Amino acid sequence: MRILFLGDIVGRTGRDAVMAHLPDLRRTLRLDLVVVNGENASHGFGLSPSIARDLMEAGADVITLGNHSWDRKDLIGHIDQEPRIVRPANYPPGTPGQGSVVVTLVDGRKALVINVMGRQFMEALDDPFRAVADVLSRHRLGVTVQAAVVDIHAEASSEKWAMGHVLDGRVSLVIGTHTHTPTADHRILSGGTAYQTDAGMCGDYDSVIGMAKDAAIARFLRRMPGERLQPAEGEASLAGMMVETDDTTGLARRMAPLRLGGLLAPTTPDF
Ligand SMILES: [Fe+2]
Ligand SMILES: [Fe+2]
Repeated sequence: MRILFLGDIVGRTGRDAVMAHLPDLRRTLRLDLVVVNGENASHGFGLSPSIARDLMEAGADVITLGNHSWDRKDLIGHIDQEPRIVRPANYPPGTPGQGSVVVTLVDGRKALVINVMGRQFMEALDDPFRAVADVLSRHRLGVTVQAAVVDIHAEASSEKWAMGHVLDGRVSLVIGTHTHTPTADHRILSGGTAYQTDAGMCGDYDSVIGMAKDAAIARFLRRMPGERLQPAEGEASLAGMMVETDDTTGLARRMAPLRLGGLLAPTTPDF
């Protein structure tokens, strides 16, 4: 299965880049499954139902979330109607929405997508390792699902590495989000799971993690409440990871980063 994961889409410029490029990428890279993190798609904070619809029309099969899941209150009433929008699995029981979804591709193959949030330097949630294990106990890689993708939305790289190792051999891809900075450590772990600490963001990199620089810098210079953070508006770079998996094992065969447009040095998977 040919899978593309795109990191946190930030604001209008991030959305515009996804809308502009994803339909072509789906075709040229012969993608079977596209997963995007949409927690910052609505002006940097949350995901509105209409933006979710736009991203899906552009070619996203599943949209994952994170600590900004509920910044757009209108998503709370909508998420139960749209199972392809997945919020972290380790929210407390009773939280709207689901922490995972199985999507069926046009050719009948199935892919499991799980979103989970780290706990280091973040909100106190349930144990992310146990939450993922609980979801995986209901599926069998290579049997009931041909691929499985885990978006670990976390601040600490250590927690993400640990998640990668715990899930090695049990899912196709463990990919980090939330820090909005693509890491150069993508590799296939010894058990066959593709791993990257952070996918990076789809946004304007002439910014502070996607937010306009002045207000974001002022927060560090003066320890006082300041201007509301606004997304930066320059051209976005798309940032993500492509993985090709073996349908019979569900494990990764090859992987390569995708960076396109904006300030980041471009790179396109060559397989
Ligand atoms: Fe984010
Ligand atoms: Fe986040």
